[in-house]
Amino acid sequence: MKSPQHIYISALGLYAPEKILTNDNLAEFVDTSDEWIRSHTGIGERHIAAENEQCSDLAVKAAKYLFEKNNLSMDGIDGIVVATATPDYYGFPSTACIIAEKLGLKGPAAFDIGAGCTGFIYALEVARAMIKSGSMTRALVFGSEKLSAVVNWKDRNTCVLFGDGAGCALLEATDEEKGILDSTLHAEGSGSLSLVIENGGHAIAMEGRAVYAFAVRAIGDTIVELLKRNDLTIGDIDWIVPHQANKRIIAACSKRYNFDPSLFYMNIERYANTSAASIPIALSEMEDAGLLKAGQKILFVGFGAGLTYGGTLIQW
Ligand code: UT7
Repeated sequence: MKSPQHIYISALGLYAPEKILTNDNLAEFVDTSDEWIRSHTGIGERHIAAENEQCSDLAVKAAKYLFEKNNLSMDGIDGIVVATATPDYYGFPSTACIIAEKLGLKGPAAFDIGAGCTGFIYALEVARAMIKSGSMTRALVFGSEKLSAVVNWKDRNTCVLFGDGAGCALLEATDEEKGILDSTLHAEGSGSLSLVIENGGHAIAMEGRAVYAFAVRAIGDTIVELLKRNDLTIGDIDWIVPHQANKRIIAACSKRYNFDPSLFYMNIERYANTSAASIPIALSEMEDAGLLKAGQKILFVGFGAGLTYGGTLIQW
């Protein structure tokens, strides 16, 4: 079999649950304020899934949006890769198998990837490599999270930070000069206990300061690594789409590494931190707003539990 030349994102979709929880709503049941949350994180509100809406439901709605928006058929989808920290079931079946069933797909490769908030970057690279090798041809890559189900709603240190949602990208091969140019994946296991979902999926615990310091360094180092080994400078980059965890992390990283802060696409104000879903949600939203144009060079950068981090360099 001839190995496909380039693997690219051919379509994007997102879903954010209907219910919105504002900072003021939160301040009604936990000791916090809109002022504290905005000034420390940049978050204004988050979407919260309904009780009967699981991770797979959010993902399926994102996929349906992708197919309807682009008037595409699901023919030939033979891969479902799901990055999530909040699967429908802890253990098995994988959320990917449930999504395949809900979409009516027969016999695709379907599996979940756990790499915390870096999950989408890992999933994209696994799917890219599998398409390149010929073991899949058309893959749906998801980041989908129902973090509201694992947040301790009495802990103001964490419950204000997270939200629910899903994003998805359709990945396939092309002979055109575009698509994924490079990617890098890392983990610093020494920090693994600084961000944990404890008790079989019932409470997020985080050492905020330690993760903050790691995040600033991880984002900066990932960007520098991808630029260097592709003989690029930051001036060649049109957009950086970072995992959305805290507006201040991006500001600190821009300052320390001398990046123009306006290169970073930010939407944390409206979604909070949706973990593995944040990058595909941002991408889908950017596409809808007409911000993604052919020929642009774009960097995705993820970081989170693990402590994992990594990035993707793509030509649109
Ligand atoms: O996506 C995975 C990756 N996760 C991250 O990247 C998160 C990284 N960490 C962060 O973004 C920040 O560390 C936080 C937003 C979590 C916290 O911000 P901070 O500026 O590091 O605050 P802090 O934890 O040092 O707390 C400062 C003060 C404390 O009060 P005292 O001890 O100074 O009296 C906290 O108790 O703010 C207090 N505080 C709050 N006050 C009101 C903590 N959370 C809240 C809150 N409302 N929600």
